[in-house]
Amino acid sequence: MKPSIRLRVITYLFAFSASAFSGLLLAQAPELDFDFFKNEVQPIFLAKREGNVRCIQCHTRSSNFRLQGLEEHQLFWTDEQSRMNFESASQFVLAGEDPLRSRFMTHPLAADVGGDPFHGGGKHFHSQFDPEWRIMADWVAGAKVRRTPSSVAVRIIQTNAAGDDSTVIDPESNKVVGTISDIAIPHGVVGAPDGSQIYITNESMHSLDIVDARTLRVKRRIPLSGRPNNVAVTGDGSKVYVAIMEMPGSVDIIDVASMTNVKTLPVNGAIHNVYVTPDSRYAVAGSIQTRTINVIDTRTDELAWELEMSSGIRPMTFDTKADGSTRSIFVQLSGFHGFAVVDFDKREEVARIEHPAVPGEEAHLDGLQGAPAHGLAVSPDGKMLWSTSKVYSHVYIHSLPDLQEIGRVFVGQHPEWITFTPDGKRAYIGAAGDNVTYAVDAIKMETIAKIPVGQVPKRIAMVRMALD
Ligand code: HEC
Repeated sequence: MKPSIRLRVITYLFAFSASAFSGLLLAQAPELDFDFFKNEVQPIFLAKREGNVRCIQCHTRSSNFRLQGLEEHQLFWTDEQSRMNFESASQFVLAGEDPLRSRFMTHPLAADVGGDPFHGGGKHFHSQFDPEWRIMADWVAGAKVRRTPSSVAVRIIQTNAAGDDSTVIDPESNKVVGTISDIAIPHGVVGAPDGSQIYITNESMHSLDIVDARTLRVKRRIPLSGRPNNVAVTGDGSKVYVAIMEMPGSVDIIDVASMTNVKTLPVNGAIHNVYVTPDSRYAVAGSIQTRTINVIDTRTDELAWELEMSSGIRPMTFDTKADGSTRSIFVQLSGFHGFAVVDFDKREEVARIEHPAVPGEEAHLDGLQGAPAHGLAVSPDGKMLWSTSKVYSHVYIHSLPDLQEIGRVFVGQHPEWITFTPDGKRAYIGAAGDNVTYAVDAIKMETIAKIPVGQVPKRIAMVRMALD
């Protein structure tokens, strides 16, 4: 009897210590997180790095690290495919250990900064501080979410309408500090309010491209219902509205959290521009073809009202009442050299301001694309309205709410869109005919820098960008 009791005790002790031991092992070796891999690591396999071939171009066939192929027009892997990629990449990872012990980390990393001597696919990362390499290292360490950035900076993004890139400008120095490449025919641009990412509409692929603010690489391309134009985001960052420039007309609504196109809302006319009002209560979408302003209620994502104007709807902007709700829509119109004012509550046009000729300035009438005035913005303090004229190469500045002209600044050939720094001290304007972005002191109303950018700079936006 005695031995059997002892045996049982020993068996029990052994079982207990074995489970305690495995518990300890789990605590030491974190599991690799699938969602982090899917949403943060996989984009690295699709990204184009200068001088390199994309990982996916080789790894659907080369080596035991096997990525699933994408069909033509398939912009991202399905969940099932992502699972297979995850399993394959995991073989080359020692989870929770020094990243330099994982072949996944050392193979694409340059040898002189800790990588191994040779990778048949070349070296993609030249520093262990490379933001993409760090995302991979975080995954290897067991991360489930991206780290919170320690700093977020204001940047100006100038899209180059005839280029394959967008230029990132630091408004402190007025220098170019980055380039977003791999988006051919970028159209509209807007930043996520938290600085994590940037949204750019891609006219060549009919997608909304999400750009990671830290890597400046495309993180996801979301398929759209047609060719996009401008784009807008709600103040809380949860939804993105995309103008679809195809008849009979629609606005695509993107849910940011799930990165999916959740609704194609039919509206009146192909949409050139969509904006979210400053209070985020409405999305306002304008059609050149049907001359209609469509106002969408952002709570229901249904059309609330529409207004037909005398000609095509071009850029729009808004001013607000004391409570933050929208007072007026300022709107530029096809063939009109100036702007109209729509009273938001009355839902009707209440004024029209035509820009006079600038004495001594030759009128440019070539290549206007139907829009002599095509750039409009209200200053952050709500006291000025800026409107560009392609005909006279100037921005016309009006006071608000009384709409008196208070200044004019020369801003190059074919000036287009305008954006302000959040403090209202500077305005940035793309001079499409000069391949330059003008930085204007908005208080003194004079140009302080002409920043060389890409081909035919049009859309421009102030964004906040996470730096690390
Ligand atoms: C030009 C083609 C090419 C590209 C691009 C490429 N690889 Fe490779 N990769 C190879 C080849 C060939 C091998 C096998 C030979 C070797 O181990 O170097 C390989 C091996 C690997 C291995 C080791 C797999 C094994 O079987 O041991 C890993 C991990 C890897 N690559 C990761 C990457 C990552 C991550 C990227 C993108 C950042 C990338 N590769 C881009 C061609 C490529």
